[in-house]
Amino acid sequence: MPTVNLKEVLNKAIKNDYAVGAFNVHNLEFVEGVMRAAEELSSPVIIGIATVSIDYAGLEPLAAVTKIYAEKSKVPTVIHLDHGDDIELVRRCIQLGFSSVMYDGSKYPIGENIKRTREIVKIAHDENISVEGEIGVVGGFEALDVGDVSNEQLQELYTQSEDARRFVAETGVDALAVAVGTVHGMPMQNAKIDFQRLKEINAAVDIPLVFHGCTGLRNEDYQKAMGLGVKKFNVGTRLMIEFKQALQKALESDEKSLFASLQEGTAVISAAVKDRIMVLKSADQA
Ligand code: 13P
Repeated sequence: MPTVNLKEVLNKAIKNDYAVGAFNVHNLEFVEGVMRAAEELSSPVIIGIATVSIDYAGLEPLAAVTKIYAEKSKVPTVIHLDHGDDIELVRRCIQLGFSSVMYDGSKYPIGENIKRTREIVKIAHDENISVEGEIGVVGGFEALDVGDVSNEQLQELYTQSEDARRFVAETGVDALAVAVGTVHGMPMQNAKIDFQRLKEINAAVDIPLVFHGCTGLRNEDYQKAMGLGVKKFNVGTRLMIEFKQALQKALESDEKSLFASLQEGTAVISAAVKDRIMVLKSADQA
């Protein structure tokens, strides 16, 4: 079916009380693995294409492969730019058939973030493309791990509800990524979430919230966050870890061909995505 935008998919999720996973893809095997899981469980799905993956695979090839899979699929699929950081990239993604973009201006002071995000919203909405914005900074696990940023410093970068209210009102974004304790690239499910802050943010805005860094989020915290307005959960690191392990193991075994090894990697991605779809309760909602 034709791709759908993020707003449509998340509005349906709000109405029917589930959330949707955004899974990061980097090549053919990842796209195949994610789409197979969504098809088999009849779940809507968001394919996240981040700038690091674009640097690796190239925007045109990655967009083309994703679009082919999305359009031949029977489930509603959003093709989403993850952490877009410049307007030209956003324009190119829109031209190549993305149905949603994230503009991440979180490194700027709030006024500048609003100004830049608003410009993206205007360009995107003219084409019926949804926009996710971010306010507050979702840190990286590597920085925490090596002690560059302490947990206390991370909290200073968390989203403030008043900023969230202002940002949403002044930009017109369709979804808002918030920083309340998830961390990008955390390999174990161990993130400490500030639920009180999440509750305040949810009360301050009337659009769906987004969690980044969901590899590190505990299953029970998915459920709690879903009840506090989070409708999009981004998962990337887990798929990379499990794909790499499966591939390594298969390649070490002499009997397995390269193709068979890659297929094992794809199957592992598919299983991990299915597992998240069950937690998000989006199965049979396509
Ligand atoms: P993880 O890689 O930590 O799962 O986070 C993915 C993400 O937030 C992509 O934007």
